[in-house]
Amino acid sequence: MDIKEFLRNSIDKNEIEAREYLQKERFNKINQLSKSNGLPLLFKSKTLDNYDESRNTPAYNAAKDFVDKFPNTNGLLLSGNVGVGKTHLAAAIVNELNNKLYSTYFGNIVDIISTLKSTYSRNSSLTEIEAIDIMTSKVDLLIIDDLGKENTTEHNLSLLYRIINRLYENEKPIIITTNCNSKDLIYRLDEWGPAILSRITSMCTPIILSGEDWRIKYGR
Ligand SMILES: Nc1ncnc2c1ncn2[C@@H]1O[C@H](COP(=O)(O)OP(=O)(O)O)[C@@H](O)[C@H]1O
Ligand SMILES: [Mg+2]
Repeated sequence: MDIKEFLRNSIDKNEIEAREYLQKERFNKINQLSKSNGLPLLFKSKTLDNYDESRNTPAYNAAKDFVDKFPNTNGLLLSGNVGVGKTHLAAAIVNELNNKLYSTYFGNIVDIISTLKSTYSRNSSLTEIEAIDIMTSKVDLLIIDDLGKENTTEHNLSLLYRIINRLYENEKPIIITTNCNSKDLIYRLDEWGPAILSRITSMCTPIILSGEDWRIKYGR
């Protein structure tokens, strides 16, 4: 082996080790909250490649653009009826960003709220503040799936407000999926609606997905 080849090999080896170290560090942060990036099994295999872009081309382009420009990009508010591919696109973004070694935390809003409430237990290793901190500043991207499905108790809405407000203050992008339009959301979120919606509107580009329910049409 000549000296050049030796150097190239050792640089490659160091680079791989450095990448692995970085990845471990990033994922350790999320592991304090969940054992993985939070993606349900069904969505672990969803990518931009296996998304039929002809069905919702602007949404596909926005997702691709988001990944390409991340972290210097506006967030996305993906809305539309059930089964049009909102969660697929959000999961594809998670998978693409994880491949680029960014850390992400994906959660259905109902689960995010439960996770935060689980910190009130005496056995919890994290406080509520620490859990919010992981979601809103330690990980590179938070994805809230199905906003509008939460029970609209005062406590739940105040937790939601705190998450959104922290992201807003930290100038971090967010991905939100929802079946609701802005009017429904503002109505649902009650007294917290205007404050939450105005932050979401300033943080996210709204993208409306359309089409038939893919699950009913194609099964799954
Ligand atoms: N354009 C698309 N290309 C490929 N698969 C799609 C597309 N739209 C939806 N699907 C599939 O249909 C199912 C339902 O999509 P999902 O993203 O869960 O819908 P939503 O979150 O909008 O209710 C998933 O299995 C998803 O992979
Ligand atoms: Mg969904």
